[in-house]
Amino acid sequence: MFESYWRKMGDKCTMVIAGYESLSYFADAKNLCWFLEPKLEEAVKRLHLTVGNAVVGDHHVVVGTGSSQLIQAALYALSPSDEPEPVSVVSAAPYYSSYPEVTDFLRSGLYKWAGDAHTFDADGPYIELVTSPNNPDGVMREAVVVNRPGQGKLVHDLAYYWPQYTSISRAVDFDVMLFTASKCTGHAGSRIGWALVRDKDVARKMTKFIEINTIGVSKESQLRAAKILGAISDSCLPFGPSKYDNFFEYSKTLMAERWDKLRAVVKRSNIFSLPKYPNQYCLFAGDSSEAHPAFAWMKCNDRIEDCDKFLREHKIVTRSGRRFGTDPKHVRISMVSRDEEFNLFLQRLSTIQWSG
Ligand SMILES: Cc1ncc(COP(=O)(O)O)c(C=O)c1O
Repeated sequence: MFESYWRKMGDKCTMVIAGYESLSYFADAKNLCWFLEPKLEEAVKRLHLTVGNAVVGDHHVVVGTGSSQLIQAALYALSPSDEPEPVSVVSAAPYYSSYPEVTDFLRSGLYKWAGDAHTFDADGPYIELVTSPNNPDGVMREAVVVNRPGQGKLVHDLAYYWPQYTSISRAVDFDVMLFTASKCTGHAGSRIGWALVRDKDVARKMTKFIEINTIGVSKESQLRAAKILGAISDSCLPFGPSKYDNFFEYSKTLMAERWDKLRAVVKRSNIFSLPKYPNQYCLFAGDSSEAHPAFAWMKCNDRIEDCDKFLREHKIVTRSGRRFGTDPKHVRISMVSRDEEFNLFLQRLSTIQWSG
């Protein structure tokens, strides 16, 4: 949905890579993450400083093929190597639907999916995936497994902690923080994510995982991402010609328009409801607003058991609440599709009335 912004930017992010460039596996052999392009590291740090959403001072940057690869690298790095049983991996429901799949796909001996963090009560070590703002429901979250000193490790998945989706209330400073270009800039296809990791050994292990998995991360993608992140930081400079050149203001306006349209349609329906988000002050924007999450977590009324099935009958494809470890009365709807798709969705949704 951010394509219009990038079109407006014209050639600002165009880059040419000659046939003789970027051949080596290595980007900087002296860096702990030896395949990380220095230009990307610099652009990542500059962007976090510009937005003020995460501290970067004493964290190591590890680049991944999307944050999907970094989730796996973090699970590997945080799993104890001397335990007879795999460590439990939990996340509070509703949780991002890929977590169970990613955790159990290879039936690792190191870690296993243990479900909803709210109900987790087994003894022993665990890893909690904390997604904030959360996918699917857009809520700002904290770890929920408490009173287990020394047993738990946290991975903060901050894919959506950017000003177009939510207010930036502070620069977060967690041990392992994951970000991705796909949600920040819209460049999902470049497959670039990055982790900010406090502990050197954890960062080293994550780097090792990526070395074994893909021997590094595409340099073309890293260089393109560096250029794009750089352009976003430039767009936030105070002397820009128009506030709509500021990427985050532009994209927040788009998100807010879509949410307004969806809320208007849902208000007229006698079937659906949406979460309410509080007004919160954003340090980056310098004003207060409610969240505009990348997904709508929509609920249907008591007379409909399976909202996903109901909507499919009306030619609307969603993801059922079941996939997120919760009830089928909820569905997740993408708010970041292309304009034509989003408008068609609204049009179809607005024609549905309860007639039972
Ligand atoms: C919470 C969360 N984490 C990670 C990812 C994976 O993103 P990437 O495209 O960087 O692999 C997604 C993508 O939807 C996500 O929603």
